[in-house]
Amino acid sequence: MRRKRLLVAAVAVIVLGFLFGTAGARESLDGNERAAPLELTNALRAASGDDSEKSAETVYKNIRVFKGLPASKLEGAMDFMSASLGVGCAYCHTSAFEQDDKIAKQVSRTMIRMTLELNKASFGGSLEVTCYTCHRGQPAPVASPTVGAPVKPKASDASRTASGATLPTGDQLFDRYIKSLGGEAALAKITSRKIKGTMLTADGTAATFEAYQKTPNKLLTVAAFSSAVKYAGFNGTSAWARSDDKIDEVDGESHAVLKRDAEFYQGIAFKELYKNVMVAGEARVGSRAAFLLVATAPDGSPERFFFDAASGLLLRRVRVTKTALGELSTQTDFEDYRKVDGVRLPFTTRWSTAGMAWSRKIISVRNNVRIGDEKFEPLFKTVNLDRE
Ligand code: HEC
Ligand code: HEC
Repeated sequence: MRRKRLLVAAVAVIVLGFLFGTAGARESLDGNERAAPLELTNALRAASGDDSEKSAETVYKNIRVFKGLPASKLEGAMDFMSASLGVGCAYCHTSAFEQDDKIAKQVSRTMIRMTLELNKASFGGSLEVTCYTCHRGQPAPVASPTVGAPVKPKASDASRTASGATLPTGDQLFDRYIKSLGGEAALAKITSRKIKGTMLTADGTAATFEAYQKTPNKLLTVAAFSSAVKYAGFNGTSAWARSDDKIDEVDGESHAVLKRDAEFYQGIAFKELYKNVMVAGEARVGSRAAFLLVATAPDGSPERFFFDAASGLLLRRVRVTKTALGELSTQTDFEDYRKVDGVRLPFTTRWSTAGMAWSRKIISVRNNVRIGDEKFEPLFKTVNLDRE
């Protein structure tokens, strides 16, 4: 397997870890060598909720504890372990991921078994205890309580604000959001845009950045790093990424993230497409007071929206992904809203997920430029940056 995460953080303005699987890693064993499932299999299946696809051991080379886990769930589990211990992949792996020469990897197998067995024995198989419960972002768990008083959450009445007022409803938050963006009529007038800006990854790598967007959710981003130009796109249905001449279909979690990024106005579809909408209470985003709205996305994953209590604008959305070992969140923050042609746009967007962060600042926006639909398709040959 090739390690492509950096590239991702790069393209990705957008995409998280798109591309774990590559041809090399996904050699099939034709099912012949499918070993008898371990006792853990059921727990893993239950955790991942899918039993129709190929299991990890038929796709990867040296799977011993994750037997029975759908192959597409392996990368999520790896991300979860890395985040829980606060380490990178290299803490447990050499470049050949199937090798067992690192003690940390061997210990982790014992830890995975222990964690799953613990949950099975004491929590009815639900993932209550995870790597993070003990590790808290470090390889060596702390065995003694730390000095200082723990912060106790304030008890609050869920249906009221701190000042005793009734919380707004989801519909009210949504209507206010549309209004603060500029109002339905102004929004409807803009159907495409071209953005220029800069991108910065957490390790300080910078890129110039362009995005082409069309309503309701077509997106092409082009990030020019000194080393390479990376593209990522969403044509309304499928997501893809391109680096040099290599084009990859993007699926799973990265697809979900790109799809969200492709929304012409962030979160604008939640009223139509999301289920179980609930205003959960008040929250803070940085120094700003916000209302927290919780809803279930069309793909079944829970999502949280934070609306600015003062302006009504969307400040943050957090998507939660269930991995085989626990939950991981991807957070997107929207800042510095400015009005262009009667519609407000966040000029700074920050993405963060366990162990990765990147941001984008807009320098210029041109609305209603002509952009051909082919631009969003995965198989385009070249992109001329000077023409739209
Ligand atoms: C805390 C240790 C740990 C970390 C961190 C970790 N892994 Fe793993 N990884 C494992 C273990 C343990 C296995 C074997 C699982 C099994 O036997 O079922 C494994 C297996 C794999 C495999 C399957 C290899 C094969 O062909 O058998 C891949 C691919 C992989 N990891 C990728 C990654 C990536 C990418 C990262 C960083 C995002 C990562 N891992 C981070 C412990 C870790
Ligand atoms: C119930 C608490 C608990 C849980 C849950 C747990 N661990 Fe641990 N883990 C420990 C303790 C305690 C140690 C230190 C053991 C020692 O020092 O000998 C440890 C040590 C480790 C180490 C060795 C660290 C080093 O010093 O190199 C790795 C790797 C590790 N755990 C991975 C994991 C992974 C991956 C998970 C989740 C699948 C996990 N652990 C879940 C308690 C836990």
